[in-house]
Amino acid sequence: MSELYNDNPTLDFLKQQKNIDEDKQGNVFFQEKGSSKDKNAKHFYIESYGCQMNFSDSEIVASILMDTGYSPTRNMEESDLILINTCSIREKAEDTVRKRLRVFDKIKAKRPGTLVGVLGCMAERLKKKLLDQEKLVDLVVGPDAYRDLPKLVAGAEEGDKGVNVLLSREETYADINPVRIQSNGVTAFISIMRGCDNMCSFCVVPFTRGRERSRDAFSIVAEATQLFEKGFREVTLLGQNVDSYKWENPEDKSVVNFAQLMEMVALIHPDLRIRFSTSHPKDITDEVLHTMAKYENICKYIHLPVQSGNSRVLKLMNRTYDREWYKERVDSIYRIIPDCAISSDVIAGFCSETEEEHQDSLSIIEYAQYTMSYMFIYSERPGTLAARKYDDDIPEAVKKRRLQEIIRLQNQISYKRNQTDIGKTFKVLIEGTSKRSDQDFKGRNTQNKMVIFPVDERYKAGDYVYVKVYEASSATLKGNMVEKP
Ligand code: SAH
Ligand code: SF4
Ligand code: F3S
Repeated sequence: MSELYNDNPTLDFLKQQKNIDEDKQGNVFFQEKGSSKDKNAKHFYIESYGCQMNFSDSEIVASILMDTGYSPTRNMEESDLILINTCSIREKAEDTVRKRLRVFDKIKAKRPGTLVGVLGCMAERLKKKLLDQEKLVDLVVGPDAYRDLPKLVAGAEEGDKGVNVLLSREETYADINPVRIQSNGVTAFISIMRGCDNMCSFCVVPFTRGRERSRDAFSIVAEATQLFEKGFREVTLLGQNVDSYKWENPEDKSVVNFAQLMEMVALIHPDLRIRFSTSHPKDITDEVLHTMAKYENICKYIHLPVQSGNSRVLKLMNRTYDREWYKERVDSIYRIIPDCAISSDVIAGFCSETEEEHQDSLSIIEYAQYTMSYMFIYSERPGTLAARKYDDDIPEAVKKRRLQEIIRLQNQISYKRNQTDIGKTFKVLIEGTSKRSDQDFKGRNTQNKMVIFPVDERYKAGDYVYVKVYEASSATLKGNMVEKP
């Protein structure tokens, strides 16, 4: 441990933490089966769908399985245990999972001993029913039951189907050191809370993830500190609603809110960037915005899903803010952090949405000047408030047309905004070489925009460089490295 952290309160926590395994943090090296190192080890293969929380959970699952002697593999054909971490947010998400299960069936036909486990939100939503529908599935494990995996897997090896979908009010996996299975070694996710108490009427998450709970602040700072020491340079603090993060220290009853947590992480090192997701418009405070403005290493980017720009629809959605409130939050962001980028989620064709109300969604996109948005057609989810109370009455063709209008407008805005970046110089964290060409580096600026620029041998992933932009599309900026301005 370097000098740097000697006065860091998390040091004690780090020392106390039993579960830290130096070899497991950082990149995992996937061993091919049969290599001398782990000839006898069993292998698991895991695929993740859905939100970042699910990807982060898969890293917790990997850690738990590796403690029981399973090694990760990237090749599902040679794995003894195939896991799929699933999402239920829209019908399509579940369809994708079912399609993957058909692929796993074929592997099982070839290698009958292979176990298949369904984890995550679809496991939680369908529970035991999933075993009736999917005869070849051996395990169904919900998001709060991953500590039970070793027992369930051992049972399944003996031929017992295993189900644990109990939700918890306390589980945060705070003491589990996630294994960064898909990592680029530069950026990492840290879950800071679980569950959601909001009950937006369209949303299945409160049912699949349970009640909201915040994780021990010191365990979060400890994890971020460790990541920094391993060479990581960016952490994204994750939760369904990070602005309602609230952790009470059991020792002195002091409370840490989200702004304070962010500050604690920002103070680890100026070269550790902090991002976070997702912010709820009803909860994002000026204190959070001022903390963002105060620290250069807190990225100037907020994902602030609006869902709809119309107050009546927002009320039906149970979002608990209206159009005016949302606009005021956007104004405050641009006032306190003038160079901040905002992105959004928008739903097209929610129950009873009229053409005028749809126009309100378009005009709020224009108002907020989002750098990008995730845009969806409303998909009714069984058991949600909207499914019980409102008719899913917008014809599919109308939903699709509205979505297209939203996408077209957002693309125009993204393009226009990115054009204004031409000629500007940004500090960029190199994440690796670009997908398209290994002659180019890719990285992000503080506003979370992807920047592509020619490889320079003097630099590597994890370094900060300055890039002057000469070209921009709606999705990426292209530039050349320059000296620090
Ligand atoms: N906690 C985050 C969002 C989590 S789900 C928040 O409150 O902003 C991610 C996005 O999926 C949501 O923001 C919403 O836009 C979309 N979504 C959720 N349920 C949906 C549904 N039933 N149909 C279509 N989109 C949905
Ligand atoms: Fe779903 Fe709303 Fe919770 Fe987000 S805040 S996860 S949309 S219920
Ligand atoms: Fe999907 Fe569950 Fe995330 S429903 S979006 S994986 S919380």
